[in-house]
Formats: sequence, C-alpha cells, structure tokens
Amino acid sequence: MLQFDLLATDGHARRGRLTLNHGVVQTPIFMPVGTYGTVKGVTPRSLQEMGAQIILGNTFHLWMRPGLDVLAQFGGLHRFERWERPILTDSGGFQVWSLGEMRKISEEGVKFASPVNGDKLFLTPEVSMQIQTILDSDIVMQFDECTPYETKGHITTEAEARVSMELSLRWARRCQAEFARLANPNALFGIVQGGMFEHLRDESLAALVAMDFPGYAVGGVSVGEPKDEMLRIMAHTPHRLPAHKPRYLMGVGTPEDLVEGVAQGVDMFDCVMPTRNARNGHLFTRYGDLKIRNARHRSDQRPLDETCTCYACRGETAADGSVSGGFSRAYLHHLERCGEMLAPMLATIHNLHYYLNLMQEVRDALDAGRFAAFREQFRRDRAHGV
Ligand code: GUN
Ligand code: ZN
Repeated sequence: MLQFDLLATDGHARRGRLTLNHGVVQTPIFMPVGTYGTVKGVTPRSLQEMGAQIILGNTFHLWMRPGLDVLAQFGGLHRFERWERPILTDSGGFQVWSLGEMRKISEEGVKFASPVNGDKLFLTPEVSMQIQTILDSDIVMQFDECTPYETKGHITTEAEARVSMELSLRWARRCQAEFARLANPNALFGIVQGGMFEHLRDESLAALVAMDFPGYAVGGVSVGEPKDEMLRIMAHTPHRLPAHKPRYLMGVGTPEDLVEGVAQGVDMFDCVMPTRNARNGHLFTRYGDLKIRNARHRSDQRPLDETCTCYACRGETAADGSVSGGFSRAYLHHLERCGEMLAPMLATIHNLHYYLNLMQEVRDALDAGRFAAFREQFRRDRAHGV
C-alpha cells in the first residue's frame, strides 16, 4: 500500500505526504541509512527524537547476516530492529556493484562469493523480491544494475550505458511480476538508469512509467562522476517523472545537493554522509562544515551549532522545561582525540539532526510558499563559515 498526496508545489519543488503500511512520511524527506538493521551508533529512540520518519535497510547485507531464517522468525525487519515506522530497503543492485571483481553479471542475475563466508550466491530480481518480502519493508526497490561512471579509468560509453539501462528495464519487469506473485502488500519502486546520457534517461523513464510503478527512483548518480555531471542529471530527470508519484534520488548527498534536489522536484533522499562523516569528525552546521579534530576547537566552549536543538548541542529539556547545557566543541574535540565512543555517537546525533531539521525547514518553507527565499538564505548561511 502506498498513497501519495501532493500538498503544495513551487516551481518543480513539491511538498507531499506519503502514506505507507507502517505510517505517514512528510516529504521532502531525508532517510537515514541503516544498512545492517541499525543506523550506526544511534538507538531507535534517539532516531525518533530526532524526527526520523523512515529509515533504510539493505537486502544484500541482511541476507548475508543475520540471514533470512532469523528475519522470517521475527516477521520482518521492523520487529527485529525495533523500528516501528516505515522502512525502505535497497535491492542489492548497488551493493553487488560495489563488490567489483568478485561478481559475474548475466541476464539471469549476479553470481558472487559471499564476502562473509565465501559461499557461492546468486542474486536475481526474483530473489531480491523474495528477500524484501521477508523483510516486509514498506518500500521495496527493484533489482537493478547501477551503471558505473567509470571502471578502472574507462569512462562508461553511451553504448555501454544503454546495455546496462536495458538490462535494468528487463529486471524491472521481472521484479514487478515476482512482487505480484508474492502478493507483497507494500510498494515497489522502479529505478531510472541511463548513466550520464539524457536521452537514455528519458528512454528508461518512459519504459518504467509505462509499467506504472507506485513510485520512482533516480539511480546511477553519485557514482564517482564530477559534480557538474550529477547536477546535469539531477536537473534533467526528476521533474520528468509522473507528478502524482513519489520521487527518490538514491545516494545523494551533501546538504546543498538536497536543497538543489528539492528544487528539481525530488521528494526523498538517502545518503551515508551524515552518519559516515560523523564517524570521521566531520560535522554539518548551518554556517558550514566543521572538522572537530582541528586544534582550533581545543578550548572552544561553544556548541557545534548555536542554532541546533539536538541533544549534542542543546542537552536535554526536563519536564519542568529547564534545559541542561549541550556539549562544547572543546569536549567533542577531546573525545575525538581520545578515541572515545561518545565522540561518534554525539556527532551522529548532531549530523542526522542537522539533515532531518534541514528537510523540516524545507517543508516549512514550501508550506509557507517561500522556498526560493529559503534556498537563497540557506546558501548564504552555509557559505558563511563556522
Ligand atoms: N544507491 C545509490 N545508487 C543506486 C542505484 O543506482 N541503484 C540502487 N539499487 N541503489 C543505489
Ligand atoms: Zn546539534
């Protein structure tokens, strides 16, 4: 089940409401990545406090560990990982691609050796649908081939991108048939491919739209291409998708990319950047990015971001409304230098809160009909410096 209501539009930008089996998602939205059934370093309770509405999981990783028998026993991923709100799972297409040399792609699917125990495995569109049905994710992604930007220095040619895109289309049909056969009650999204070639993107899009998926993703971006190439595809493809269906830009990106994506008509984003960067001491703030390991923070008593209301920056609000102070840059710098676990934990809370709050501000701006002004202010603030 999936229902998508468009609440407001401003140019290509859209404000929407997505209703799924496990709840309602206000769009535009950022979805934290929880590859192995956990958003690294944060509890589900903390995710809820930050306002996360939907998180990701991964077919490939969960198939390897803990395995389908365990997940089936729990009736799916929600109860296993204790997250009651919606979950979107990626199909394994992108992760298999990341295996590099260890895989063999054919019309039928992808053969590879398990990176965990070396077992010979065969992931096909049908198997991906079967796994995602056991996971009971609210949004199931089609099994696709994520066309690389380059392979060992060779930039993917148009002919190669076409072969790859057409294979993904045939796999989309097989996914749709298997999804129906399994009577999966959730929603299956098609993924537009086509590399860096606009007319291939158009062909992929038209064929997927003819198949009438309840939602569509744009894949094959943020795969090592130069920034201007990504922006070119981002400006070309999303707004050509059906207006009354949700649009998801896979694996993107920086805060600037998200705001730009919204301006181009994207409703949903996911990226490891807020969580991964947090673990490397890279913090996002309203006034730019901050490297907490830098010695200049050694005795700085200010919070990471004076405008942020996350637990790391603001502390806790007690029942009587009193606020305990947040943590200082000096303290976070100290934790980092000592390799303390609390450093990546607090940094992850802050970065995810930043991304989720950014999208809340985007939604508020769209609701108020002032998205263009918001976008300008956002750019100015981010360039200001911390
Ligand atoms: N994650 C980022 N890009 C992609 C893509 O093209 N396909 C899939 N399945 N996942 C992705
Ligand atoms: Zn914060």
